[in-house]
Amino acid sequence: MASLLDPEARGRVILVGAGPGDPGLLTLRAVDALRSADVVVHDGLIDPRVLDYAPDTAQRISVAKKRDRHTLPQDAINALIIAHVKAGSVVVRLKGGDPFVFGRGGEEVEAVRAAGLPVEVIPGVSSALGCAAEAMLPLTHRDWSSAVSFVAGTCKGLSEQDWSGLAGQGRTLVIYMGVSTASMIADKLMADGVAPDMPVAVLEKGTLQGSRAMRTLLADLGDLVEREGVESPAIIVVGEVVLLSDAQNRLAAFAVQAERMKDEA
Ligand SMILES: C[S@@+](CC[C@H](N)C(=O)[O-])C[C@H]1O[C@@H](n2cnc3c(N)ncnc32)[C@H](O)[C@@H]1O
Repeated sequence: MASLLDPEARGRVILVGAGPGDPGLLTLRAVDALRSADVVVHDGLIDPRVLDYAPDTAQRISVAKKRDRHTLPQDAINALIIAHVKAGSVVVRLKGGDPFVFGRGGEEVEAVRAAGLPVEVIPGVSSALGCAAEAMLPLTHRDWSSAVSFVAGTCKGLSEQDWSGLAGQGRTLVIYMGVSTASMIADKLMADGVAPDMPVAVLEKGTLQGSRAMRTLLADLGDLVEREGVESPAIIVVGEVVLLSDAQNRLAAFAVQAERMKDEA
């Protein structure tokens, strides 16, 4: 590794998606990248077993929220990455899920490119996909849902976001970062015309130890989060596909389908 003071030294940065938690969901390319790292700059949600793929000699830098300080501001993270790349290091920027899904990967790519440095991106299993698979909850289904949308429950002003048409019959809405705003989310969706009895799932700590899959109806979402003491990280899935996510629910889904077919006949 070149010195941080060497202005001529050139390294590169690899943005790596670490998946939702379980190291078994890392891609082969992610593992290769980790093995080649001189420096790993990682988020808080990264499972320690994932970091074990980096060499013992690699410097591990957490930019996570700590009890006594907040997450490093994005500019400081960009500057940190760039400084190490300029010093000639292979920097792995390790992010939960996929770097380009609510991961600020786009901003980091722009910053590294603006500094004239090489960057590549290795996709990861986004938490919506990992959690849904674990809960046996198909996000699309030929009989139940032909579209799926991903939204952020907290970022950039919930009330300013236009979600109209994203949830309802025949569609699936997945909400990231929505635990603390769950009851506002339910109100917002119902105000947009989504039925109060639309099935909803809350998938907490997906693919990690102690993961939970909870199901309810939209009108009860805020109360469920309160009652069950749901903690971040969790995603919320809104749509009829939730009915398919376990054996008992599957029977309920068939009953709904049978009723609908009767109505249509
Ligand atoms: C800043 S976003 C990062 C998303 C990430 N880039 C991805 O593709 O999954 C963080 C949010 O992702 C979701 N999340 C991440 N890991 C999760 C997990 N293991 N189980 C449930 N939700 C998770 C939560 O909604 C959390 O608040």
